[in-house]
Amino acid sequence: EIFLGLLLLTFNGYHIVVGSEDFYYDTFPNDFLWGVATSSYQIEGAWNEGGIFIIYIALIKINVLEKNLEVDFYRFSIAWTRIIPDPIAYRTDKNKSLNQPGIDYYNNIINELIKYNIKPLVTLYHWDLPQSLQEHIGGWNSSVIVDYYNDYADAAFKTFGDRVKYWITFNEPWVICWMGHGSAEYAPGIKEPSVTPYRCGHHIIKSHAKAYDTYKQRYKTTQKGIVGITMNSDTMHPKNESNQEHIDAAERGQQFMLGWFAHPIYKDGDYPKVMKDNIGDRLPKFTPQEIALNKGSFDFFGLNHYTTVLAEPTKKEFGFPGDVLVQLTRDPSWTGSGSYWLKVVPWGFRDMLNWIKKEYNNPKVIITENGITDNNGTTNDPHRIYYYRQYINQLLKAVKQDECNVIGYTAWCLLDTFEWNRGFHEKFGLHSTDFSDPTRPRTPKLSAAAYTEIVNRNGFPP
Ligand code: NOJ
Repeated sequence: EIFLGLLLLTFNGYHIVVGSEDFYYDTFPNDFLWGVATSSYQIEGAWNEGGIFIIYIALIKINVLEKNLEVDFYRFSIAWTRIIPDPIAYRTDKNKSLNQPGIDYYNNIINELIKYNIKPLVTLYHWDLPQSLQEHIGGWNSSVIVDYYNDYADAAFKTFGDRVKYWITFNEPWVICWMGHGSAEYAPGIKEPSVTPYRCGHHIIKSHAKAYDTYKQRYKTTQKGIVGITMNSDTMHPKNESNQEHIDAAERGQQFMLGWFAHPIYKDGDYPKVMKDNIGDRLPKFTPQEIALNKGSFDFFGLNHYTTVLAEPTKKEFGFPGDVLVQLTRDPSWTGSGSYWLKVVPWGFRDMLNWIKKEYNNPKVIITENGITDNNGTTNDPHRIYYYRQYINQLLKAVKQDECNVIGYTAWCLLDTFEWNRGFHEKFGLHSTDFSDPTRPRTPKLSAAAYTEIVNRNGFPP
């Protein structure tokens, strides 16, 4: 580490300082869980089998047992349409059978994982809404979606819950609602920034709370699993640390990004005060019954974290949503990656975990994603090894020194895959994927071995 700390590497066009003076040597608690993740739409391909979902490009097939990685769990998502190809018909006729080939497909994955003692961690919704629900009921902009989502969640719990013990209801509602319904960067590409993202958020929170309740009422006693939601958040750091307005802007930013979804579920059942104040009547209201259902609808807190941004106040309404009145920038000295938004800021991870600890009374957290891109998919990837070692070291400090209650960590991503609106160019994988070959061969990168070493040693023993 000391030796590496002296090196300044130029690699793949990025300048990376490897190592740091304050590296902390210790191990994680014995029962700490280590995993790796993917999502259905980003890896499965066969977009038109078993019903069409809202994005439509064929991708790669998965072989879950990558031999080059040792993990405790594997996080993947189920494509709704593969289980219920026609959710509208299913709503009115529950005797209508589910789609057996889709069920077989996920059963194969789950059974194979269990055979190798890898726990499945299943995301129910990782952005692939059935097209019929978008066209005929208005997708997440419509309140009736709550019942359709509940049909799907119920079917998944019932079908797979004997073996799946970890469930994530939604992946990154902020992205679904803001980027899908505000800025229109992601599907379904709706650009109505002042109202629709908040309606989307409202219906997602209600869908989550209802599904959580369904699990609790119908499955918890027999299946004994745990259910949470995964939210994404950058760390909002004040651009000027000694300026109170910047400190307030960072806090406001954190509430608009993470608090939007976490506050109702992990705190008091309702939106953060600053959102109510700034958005006014455009923010939908929960009924007292809904507040009661939202509050505490979790067994763990799922967090996707990659980077940090600098916050300062602005009067202009733009982006993120505009009502936050915060301008975000990135420190030019921070190390870059293959994605413009992803700067390497390891200390921000520890700050984020401490913010969650304080704000939500130290809930049980699972890091459900963390990782870094490059643009060439090279298997010689010291920049990725550096990122993982530094970020996981900050996580270790948060767990051991700050007593943040984090129980698991997931590397994103198992494979180089499809990075949504930015295509195949931004590569997160621990394995490279050859997209020119129809069998999509995968090769482990050096980072796969480095991550396995961290997993096997349960951190960084002295
Ligand atoms: C967020 C998403 O959950 C995942 O689908 C995406 O590929 C990564 N983070 C990286 O942006």
